[in-house]
Amino acid sequence: MTASPLAPQWLSQPEDTNALRPQLWAQDVARGAGGELEISGIPVSRIAEEFGTPVFVMSEADFRARARDFKDSFDAAFAGLCGGADVYYAGKSFLCTEVARWVSSEGLRLDTCSGGELAVARRAGLHGSQLGLHGNNKSLAELTRALDMELGRIVVDSLGELEMLGNLASSRGERANVMLRLTPGVHASTHEFIATAHEDQKFGLSMVADPDLDGMSPAMAAVETALKHDGVNLVGVHCHIGSQIFESAGFELAARRLLGFLAEVKQDYGVELAELDLGGGYGIAYTEADAPRPAAEIANAMAAVVGSTCSELGLAVPRISIEPGRAIVGPSTFTLYRAGTTKTVRVDTPDGGTSPRRYVSVDGGMSDNARPVLYGADYSAVLASRTSEADAVLSRVVGKHCESGDIVVRDAYLPGDVTASDLLAVPGTGAYCWVLSSNYNYLTRPPVVAVRDGAARLIVRGETEDDLLARDVS
Ligand SMILES: Cc1ncc(COP(=O)(O)O)c(C=O)c1O
Repeated sequence: MTASPLAPQWLSQPEDTNALRPQLWAQDVARGAGGELEISGIPVSRIAEEFGTPVFVMSEADFRARARDFKDSFDAAFAGLCGGADVYYAGKSFLCTEVARWVSSEGLRLDTCSGGELAVARRAGLHGSQLGLHGNNKSLAELTRALDMELGRIVVDSLGELEMLGNLASSRGERANVMLRLTPGVHASTHEFIATAHEDQKFGLSMVADPDLDGMSPAMAAVETALKHDGVNLVGVHCHIGSQIFESAGFELAARRLLGFLAEVKQDYGVELAELDLGGGYGIAYTEADAPRPAAEIANAMAAVVGSTCSELGLAVPRISIEPGRAIVGPSTFTLYRAGTTKTVRVDTPDGGTSPRRYVSVDGGMSDNARPVLYGADYSAVLASRTSEADAVLSRVVGKHCESGDIVVRDAYLPGDVTASDLLAVPGTGAYCWVLSSNYNYLTRPPVVAVRDGAARLIVRGETEDDLLARDVS
């Protein structure tokens, strides 16, 4: 078999389409003796039978291990500098009551960004001191809820919000714990980052001098306001430079810029702010082309930069925190689909010929994974219910929605005999899939099943047709 001229450069022709690439899968996923995909020893056909398809299948052990790895690695790297580090799991990547409990029991905190996410945290029994709240447009109701829950930190995004929160807290005779979200002029994604001065985006306070503020930066103006306000306890500063990042250079530049800002605060106001949050964004493997770095390596590189920059600037090392989401939950989960119709089309190639592409439709699609449509994200897929000796064929896994862009996996070599009723598994769907799911075409949102020690249980039930109809008022 020759490689398809339609395949992207990064996609290699597999010697064995049944093989699993370990970096794509949760630690307890393997093929069983009969060739079927198993998680914690449970065959996927049993999961499909009990819970239906599509279904998100999450390894609790894998999630917990990655959460612990981040916590232990950052604690160890920063122990000598500032007594350890705090890891806030970014709930926006995936959140439900059960997962909030895992986060807490592994010693992590929870980063939320809406009243709804705070409600999940409350139901899970987390205390406000374990929580942070983000958002560029928090409502008065959300800020009130945050104060009611005695949040450990509210990450303030603008001067207007700072006033609103400060006044609210002071009217209650309280002080809100505030972190200021700054825009360090660093944007990173995968293997590249760009550094700019001015920021043209909705999040955060600019660090660049603003003529409308008499030459002060919005970030410094916020510090001044916060320090004076009797409703504000200014805890520190925060930044988040992007997502799915593999290189450390962008993180390091952002850390240096924020520490430089803390040194200016010290010089101008005589105050050393206690905390620095460097956000999330650590990359994971969606395809064979991705090679994520171990948490310990990231932590050690960050600690080296933070330590040396602080000594250059004569600054006490602030307490460091980070907010990983995708890197904890993404690889813990695969989506299990049932294949339906297939067809092969011939596609024109640059040399004037044509080449086949096989379309394999599954029983979900952009309603359970919007990332391919939203960002052109790539995923991988395997035949899960059995092995096959058929030749590998360049395939496109597509959903069942009324959009031609409804693609689940743009390019994968799958066995040429994949057919209706086979089960397909798509790994790396733990982050930003279920949380972005929709009812497009009146499909029901899939359930989330957690697997641990050879047992599978529902942690979020799937929607039913009754759920779909429940909001129609007539
Ligand atoms: C402020 C903030 N923190 C953390 C995260 C989590 O990023 P990731 O899931 O890529 O680690 C995000 C994601 O958008 C974010 O906006």
